[in-house]
Amino acid sequence: MPGNTHNSRTSNKMMTFFVCFLAALAGLLFGLDIGVIAGALPFIAKDFNVTSHQQEWIVSSMMFGAAIGAIGSGWMSSRLGRKKSLMAGAILFVIGSLLSATASNPEMLIVARVILGLAVGVASYTAPLYLSEIAPEKIRGSMISLYQLMITIGILAAYLSDTAFSFTGNWRWMLGVITIPAILLLIGVFFLPNSPRWLAAKGNFRDAQRVLDRLRDTSEQAKRELDEIRESLKIKQSGWGLFQSNSNFRRAVFLGVLLQVMQQFTGMNVIMYYAPKIFEIAGFTNTTEQMWGTVIVGLVNVLATFIAIGLVDRWGRKPTLTLGFLVMAAGMGILGTMLHMGIQSPGAQYFAIAMLLMFIVGFAMSAGPLIWVLCSEIQPLKGRDFGITVSTATNWIANMIVGATFLTMLSSLGNANTFWVYAGLNIFFILLTLWLIPETKGISLEHIERNLMSGKALRNIGARD
Ligand code: BGC
Repeated sequence: MPGNTHNSRTSNKMMTFFVCFLAALAGLLFGLDIGVIAGALPFIAKDFNVTSHQQEWIVSSMMFGAAIGAIGSGWMSSRLGRKKSLMAGAILFVIGSLLSATASNPEMLIVARVILGLAVGVASYTAPLYLSEIAPEKIRGSMISLYQLMITIGILAAYLSDTAFSFTGNWRWMLGVITIPAILLLIGVFFLPNSPRWLAAKGNFRDAQRVLDRLRDTSEQAKRELDEIRESLKIKQSGWGLFQSNSNFRRAVFLGVLLQVMQQFTGMNVIMYYAPKIFEIAGFTNTTEQMWGTVIVGLVNVLATFIAIGLVDRWGRKPTLTLGFLVMAAGMGILGTMLHMGIQSPGAQYFAIAMLLMFIVGFAMSAGPLIWVLCSEIQPLKGRDFGITVSTATNWIANMIVGATFLTMLSSLGNANTFWVYAGLNIFFILLTLWLIPETKGISLEHIERNLMSGKALRNIGARD
């Protein structure tokens, strides 16, 4: 009956959306944990009376944990499956949040942040992978961008909650409230289906078919997708072995690493971690101004992510990315020039902030979500776990390098030069995008895989033929 077909199609759509939303909740926790430390650190430093070196450790212990978590979850998500990995991530989130809120000395806090990092690493690896395997290809890009949206909402929520708790100076509450979304994630993940691609890779075609039937509009569509998955599973190699033996796979791994290095070296996290400091450099010396400025940065980051969600499956990945790098280069470049000339008048101060926000828009509409989208799309199924492990670990290692070098760059190169370096890098990334990055809009993962494995140039692996 047509009515029934329509109803079941609608309910399948709702189901897909629900599943994707839940997986994207992992992104929220990722964001909360990135954002929370900026506001909490000054109070922690006062309470524990720590040196600046210890502070650096408190910040970067999470990124260190995240790199390890990402590496471990490659193994875990292929052995136990994406769903159980997400569950393990959620449990670590709960433990890490509770321990960091109750730490009685800096060492305990560092250990707690490593545990949180493990959770973030698992989430940042497993959630986009799971989403790319669950979402229908027409909306795959938007669904993974939804994950990025949740990251940005998490960062904003952390900035806001830091601001709220800052009146009492209670950093334990800042870190402790994160337990609540962590528990929600744990409950939600319980209801997620297993990834059909993972089920098929384990030889469990019947369950894979059942999941696809619940998620796709028609049973023909579900069947076609399962056939494609079956086809791509015929190549019997995996992970490290494939990396050693297959140069086409090595190219995909290289591309994933390059994409994540590009994302981090845009300089985005310099602003995420040091926004108040940058406001100070631009002449806003009042702490309240700096705090609210930081909240505005978080808000613009969220709002501009919607641009990406709208564009990624319409414009495609490559033009959006190119435009984003251009906007980021302009933002950083002009900011550098203003710092060079000196920011004196209030007009100049606000213009500098506008440039900073323009940079945020450039990142959020492009590299923020798109790098995750591309990294989850370019790996062939047999090596997907390995490939995404490597690229996600790269994200965190590069993140750590950027975070740990900014203050040193400011003091050794000077303010203007530091921003110019990032502007130059963004221009370089435009060239790299044109030269090496493929367009993968609307192409099935299996088709991308066929192109890659047949030796097509990297920038052409998304070609229809
Ligand atoms: C990046 C993070 C960054 C965040 C900002 C993510 O895509 O991987 O490093 O902090 O975007 O919104």
